[in-house]
Amino acid sequence: MRKISIIGAGFIGATTAFAIQQKGLVRELVITDINQEKALGEVLDLTHGSSLSSPCYVTLGTIEDTKDSDIIIITAGVGQKPGETRLDLIDKNYKIFKSFVPDLARLSPNAILLVVTNPVDVLSYITYKLSGFPKNRVIGSGTVLDTTRLRSLLGKYFGIDGRSVQGFVLGEHGDSEFVTWSSLTIGNIKVQDFSNQFNIEWDTETEKVIAEDVKNAAYEVIKRKGATAFSVAAVLSRIVEALTKDEKTILTVSTLLENYKGVSDVYLSVPTIVGKNGVEKVLDIELSEKEKEKFIASANLMKEYIEKVNNE
Ligand SMILES: NC(=O)c1ccc[n+]([C@@H]2O[C@H](COP(=O)([O-])OP(=O)(O)OC[C@H]3O[C@@H](n4cnc5c(N)ncnc54)[C@H](O)[C@@H]3O)[C@@H](O)[C@H]2O)c1
Repeated sequence: MRKISIIGAGFIGATTAFAIQQKGLVRELVITDINQEKALGEVLDLTHGSSLSSPCYVTLGTIEDTKDSDIIIITAGVGQKPGETRLDLIDKNYKIFKSFVPDLARLSPNAILLVVTNPVDVLSYITYKLSGFPKNRVIGSGTVLDTTRLRSLLGKYFGIDGRSVQGFVLGEHGDSEFVTWSSLTIGNIKVQDFSNQFNIEWDTETEKVIAEDVKNAAYEVIKRKGATAFSVAAVLSRIVEALTKDEKTILTVSTLLENYKGVSDVYLSVPTIVGKNGVEKVLDIELSEKEKEKFIASANLMKEYIEKVNNE
């Protein structure tokens, strides 16, 4: 893959461009924003450091300049203000998406569209519809961020490397998400047994506290610094890496579900194999009855919002 375009040069767009550049994932990076001056500032800043990373030609562009992109990362739109939920952003961001997604699809008919703007699950579905692309090439960043936060927080709690945690956050990237505690392991050891070996306290109350910390992570950051950025950029560059290197990595991206635990025609996060074709396979995962209920509730909530948008 040769060319990546980033739509939106705000906190997420700019930090993601930096992460992609540092990882040397692509030769050509186009950055576009309605605020061209801001985007130009980011392009210049990235260009000035570029001789220290593997060659990556960063340019300022318009939507037309995204032509023939291999991957388009969509971060344009408004973000949450303190106290706002992600779903509160739908009306404004839906209008913004309608203004450029058809053009992006026309200009780069073979691209993979990676949707980041919130509410990411609803907007991924809308992008799928507006683009007319096959479902495997429209991906939402979904709960990859929440899963990363879960692993990081569990790693911190137990004093171990968070990469040793096998477990996911599934459902909506938002308030109805849930942790797959019933199957979560650390180094293949059930979390309760793991904590016993270290004499560290673990019970359902601890589970609840960690799940809440994961869910509220963005709120805690936003109320202090205005937006999340580094963790998101780390996640997005990880997804881009899986795509560009055809890794077949299992990530909890948001994808179109069909007959998945009784859920159809909705974008939600489940364990998914990600490679050069985008979503290569959606994996079935065993959920407890309670987790299944939460999953269905998440799907119903997303459908409600999609219907709301469709009726406008
Ligand atoms: N999916 C995730 O995990 C995740 C995580 C964090 C933030 N987000 C979301 O990402 C989005 C961006 O967040 P941010 O902090 O970068 O916001 P930001 O306000 O810093 O940046 C958004 C940028 O979009 C630009 N923009 C607006 N309309 C545009 C248009 N029509 N065309 C091109 N550019 C346009 C703005 O000028 C601005 O520079 C928000 O919706 C936020 O909620 C998603």
